[in-house]
Amino acid sequence: MSDYTPRPEHRFSFGLWTVGWRGVDPFGVATREPMDPAHAVEKLAELGAWGVSFHDEDVIPFGAADSDRASRIASFRKALDSTGLVVPMATTNLFTHPVFREGALTANDRDVRRFALRKVLRNLDLAAELGARTYVMWGGREGAESPFNKDVRAALDRYAESVNILCAYVREQGYDIRFALEPKPNEPRGDILLPTIGHAIAFIGELEEPDRVGLNPEVGHEQMAGMSVVHGYAQALWHGKLFHLDLNGQNGPRYDQDLRFGNGDVKSAFALVDLLEHSVGASGAGGRGSYDGPRHFDFKPARTEDESGVWASAAACMRNYLILAAKSRAFRADPDVAAALADSRVGQLSVPTLAPGESLADLRAEELDTTEAAGRGAHAEKLDQLALEYLYGTR
Ligand code: GCO
Ligand code: MN
Ligand code: MN
Repeated sequence: MSDYTPRPEHRFSFGLWTVGWRGVDPFGVATREPMDPAHAVEKLAELGAWGVSFHDEDVIPFGAADSDRASRIASFRKALDSTGLVVPMATTNLFTHPVFREGALTANDRDVRRFALRKVLRNLDLAAELGARTYVMWGGREGAESPFNKDVRAALDRYAESVNILCAYVREQGYDIRFALEPKPNEPRGDILLPTIGHAIAFIGELEEPDRVGLNPEVGHEQMAGMSVVHGYAQALWHGKLFHLDLNGQNGPRYDQDLRFGNGDVKSAFALVDLLEHSVGASGAGGRGSYDGPRHFDFKPARTEDESGVWASAAACMRNYLILAAKSRAFRADPDVAAALADSRVGQLSVPTLAPGESLADLRAEELDTTEAAGRGAHAEKLDQLALEYLYGTR
C-alpha cells in the first residue's frame, strides 16, 4: 500500500486565499469567518504542506496604516518562522477594490493604472523580503464586457509597459524573482486579456526581458476555455515557460469552480500528474521540458463547508496528487503499458524525422507503401484503456 502522507519534500503549497476563502459568491454572503493568516500557516504546516503564497491583501487589508501593516506582517512572519513554511510565490490583489472596476494595469483611467503599478511595486518588496522567487500576475479585471469599451491593442501596450517596468525594477533591485502570468478566459470580466496559455506565451515574446517572464497556468482556467490542460501545460514546458502552476479541478466550460485538485475532470488530472512527474529529463526547446517547482493549489473549499471541511479539502488536494503520482509510477512501470506504448509508436515521435546527415535527396528517393501504411492502426484505445484501468483501480 502506498503512503499518501504529504511531506515538505513534495513541495505542496497553498494560496492563503484558498483556505481563507469565506464562501462569498454572487448570490450569497460569507458562510465562514475570516481566517487569521498565522492560523492558516499553522494548520497547513500540520497537514504536511511546504509553502504558502499570498496576495498583499491576504495579509494586509487595503489601505491599512503603516503600523497595522507592520504588525500583521510580523505575525505572518512569526508563523512562517515557527512552522518552517516557505513563501515560494506572491501576487497582488488588483481586482477586489472598486477602484479596479474597469481594470488595473490596463484600465482606461491612467490614474488607476499608476496606482495599480505602485501597489505591485510595494508588494514586490515584501515578496522579496519573504523570499518569494515567483511573482504571479493574474489579470482578473484586465478586460472588458463590451468590445467598444476597450482598445485591446492599446491595452496590450500598457500591459507590456507594466511588465517591462516590473522586470527592470526586479533586475535593478537584484531580487531573485521571475514573473508568471496566469491566463484565464473570463470571470470576473466578460472577456479577460491573455485568455489562454497560448495567448500569454505569444505576449511574452514581445516583452523587453522575455526570460524573466513565464506562466502560472491554472487547470480550471484552461478547461473553462475548452482547452486540453495537458496540451497547454506541455506546450508551456516545451517553451521553458512553466514557472509555477495552480492546481485545482473543474467540470468543463462553465463558471470558475476552483474545485479541490483531483475532483472534476479526473482523467485530465491523472494525465497532468503523469506529465509533471514523468517529464523529468524530457527535452523541449533548449532542453527545458521538465518542471520541478512547487505543486501549488489554488482551489476554493466548497461554500457548504465549515472550517473542518476547509482542512479536509486542503488535505485532499495533496492526497489526490500523491495518489495520482503513485498510479502514474505504476502505469509507467507496467510491462503491458510499455508494450502498448511501443504498439502505439509513441517513442518513434522522439526520433527526428530526418536522420543526422541525411539529405532531402535521400528522403525523396525513399518510397512509402501508402496502402500498407494507411492500414496501420494507432492502437491508442488499448493504451488509453490501460490508463483508465489504473485510474479505476482495477490494475
Ligand atoms: C481566480 C484566480 C486567482 C489567482 C490569484 C493569484 O480565478 O480566482 O485563479 O485565484 O490565481 O488571484 O493571482
Ligand atoms: Mn480559478
Ligand atoms: Mn489561480
